[in-house]
Amino acid sequence: MRRSDRPPSTLVPVGGELMDGFGRVHRDLRISVTDRCNFRCRYCMPAEGLEWLPRDGLLSFEEISRVASLVVERFGIRSIRLTGGEPTVRAKLPDLVRLLSPLPVDLALTTNGATLRLLAAELAEAGLGRINVSLDSLRRDRFEELTLRDGLARVLDGIEAALAAGLSPVKVNVVVMRGVNDDELVDFARFGRELGVTVRFIEFMPLDADEAWSEAAVVSQEEILATIGAVYPLEPPARSNAPATRFRYMDGGGEIGVVASVTQSFCDSCDRIRLTADGQFRNCLFATKEFDLRGLLRSGASDDEVADLVERAVAAKWAGHGIGRVDFIRPARSMSQIGG
Ligand code: 5AD
Ligand code: SF4
Repeated sequence: MRRSDRPPSTLVPVGGELMDGFGRVHRDLRISVTDRCNFRCRYCMPAEGLEWLPRDGLLSFEEISRVASLVVERFGIRSIRLTGGEPTVRAKLPDLVRLLSPLPVDLALTTNGATLRLLAAELAEAGLGRINVSLDSLRRDRFEELTLRDGLARVLDGIEAALAAGLSPVKVNVVVMRGVNDDELVDFARFGRELGVTVRFIEFMPLDADEAWSEAAVVSQEEILATIGAVYPLEPPARSNAPATRFRYMDGGGEIGVVASVTQSFCDSCDRIRLTADGQFRNCLFATKEFDLRGLLRSGASDDEVADLVERAVAAKWAGHGIGRVDFIRPARSMSQIGG
């Protein structure tokens, strides 16, 4: 459902809306629940992993739930997405879902899918709604090259488990990289059509800790559409559900999404705020500054003080990331440490 089509939250935000200096109202909170991962995607993590956060550095479920309730009630946040690292490696994740699911929000999860066979039913029962599974190759050997794990079969099985558990919608996220998986665009389209899931193709962003990214590695929305459209003709976009633009197949076989994060930045309609696993509040994926919410929570701060930090952080948000500009700076932390 389009954000604007969604029934309005039943709660009147008592603190007003979270508007920044550019008039953007923030309604989407992404919460990273761990920096760890059971995969080692090349663009995200070195093979040996990263230096993980100590256990007590992570926000507890109670702390996360306090912040989530507060921003929903005060500021009318309408959607919450749990991310990582890989969120399902955090022990007892369904307990967190159970704490958050009573809130009047659209509750979602982004996962690599490897553990969904074990967890999907419990997550659905705990009140999870939508789910995005990240999958960058449908070829077993290439999948292993990309993630350093022989895990394709488990992920495919996990996607089936998510569908069977009634999680809805199930979407598959593909980061498209030139010379790496751009020869699988049509295979992914067919995969989505056959399974009845929406595949979302994401332009490769400069977030990696290493040097995998270059402008030449970006496959643009235009090229993605041309390649898929040549085999399965697509309609012009009926709706733009930023950040993904949706394109339906002309034959009624469903739709794809394209996230043109590089060639058509959606910064000017961005409504996202983020909380890292170690309790740092970020106003942008690419932010170079964080706000220490954990320190505040653990110093016994009142709800007003917590709300004040959130408001200050949003007020300080910049216009956009400026990928491609000479003064663009990559964030100091990788995607797994920030949360997707
Ligand atoms: N560019 C685009 N998407 C990325 N992701 C991770 N790193 C990048 C990047 N550099 C994706 C993951 C997952 C989501 C959390 O973000 O593949 O789908
Ligand atoms: Fe793990 Fe996701 Fe990073 Fe891959 S992209 S290593 S699945 S956190």
